[in-house]
Amino acid sequence: MSDARFDIAHLARAELFSPKPQETLDFFTKFLGMYVTHREGQSVYLRGYEDPYPWSLKITEAPEAGMGHAAMRTSSPEALERRAKSLTDGNVDGTWSEDQFGYGKTFEYQSPDGHNLQLLWEAEKYVAPPELRSKILTRPSKKPLQGIPVKRIDHLNLMSSDVTAVKDSFERHLGFRTTERVVDGNVEIGAWMSSNLLGHEVACMRDMTGGHGKLHHLAFFYGTGQHNIDAVEMFRDYDIQIEAGPDKHGITQSQFLYVFEPGGNRIELFGEAGYLHLDPDAETKTWQMSDIDTGLAVGGAKLPWESYFTYGTPSPLSLDQHIEKYAHFGPGAPDPDALAAELSVPDELEHSRAVADASL
Ligand SMILES: [Fe+2]
Ligand SMILES: [Fe+2]
Repeated sequence: MSDARFDIAHLARAELFSPKPQETLDFFTKFLGMYVTHREGQSVYLRGYEDPYPWSLKITEAPEAGMGHAAMRTSSPEALERRAKSLTDGNVDGTWSEDQFGYGKTFEYQSPDGHNLQLLWEAEKYVAPPELRSKILTRPSKKPLQGIPVKRIDHLNLMSSDVTAVKDSFERHLGFRTTERVVDGNVEIGAWMSSNLLGHEVACMRDMTGGHGKLHHLAFFYGTGQHNIDAVEMFRDYDIQIEAGPDKHGITQSQFLYVFEPGGNRIELFGEAGYLHLDPDAETKTWQMSDIDTGLAVGGAKLPWESYFTYGTPSPLSLDQHIEKYAHFGPGAPDPDALAAELSVPDELEHSRAVADASL
């Protein structure tokens, strides 16, 4: 077991970019009941009613959707120094900053695939104004009377051209253990990693389009599956694009619902937390492609190839354009780019012939 095993406590916050910041803000406040706690420049800061810090989500106006950064809180100031040293000793470039509302000194670096990640220890504890204080002492604020409110940020799923490289970095430098993974032959195409008892704080899935450094999804926690069913009805009625679910993954045993917030980022609503890893030296469970249907969705929900396995943010195409382009993508089917390249050859021949003919 790694000495660093509990040096990272949990995922504290993430920043999402949105080209439609008002619609994105409405999604998180009106539908998911998050509180706005701060505004600064082109950013709005939000928290769920059980998030312990002043914010867990920052929405920043930007030309494209995507993840600005994700930050994990360490278990002590010394743990922060140890993890930063491990990264720099491992030739990972990093810089220290201290410029985020509600948080202190932060180590910023990139995953091997180019995702912006941060580590920090200093964090203010959220103190609600008197009218929002809950009678339940472990709850930093009242459950809001709006939408189907999420309790807190849950986890992060990164798309990567190389799952193994990202997984190795989390294991080696941050002390995460890989609870489950999926292999296709000898290639790792998914890994679920944790620094605590949860099945995952961070997951990584292969970008089937060969892209780098994209966000697959950011997840928020309900803790009960009924909320996913209530939420999907709300999303259907109010025209929020639903991708898949509610259903239950075999991998992690968690209950899922995937939707797209109006800015284009995929958001997962998380029902039950799934399997808790109390066993300190449990082996990594490896799923083969032959069992992948159970791994993805026990109840048989289809995770669409044209979006779930190919779309992440930032995306060169809008979500609708992407879905159209990848409509016939899947196991055994040709890659749309390869197909387009093939189809473009006769066009060019025709064109050159036409030019040649014209010159006669
Ligand atoms: Fe997830
Ligand atoms: Fe999921």
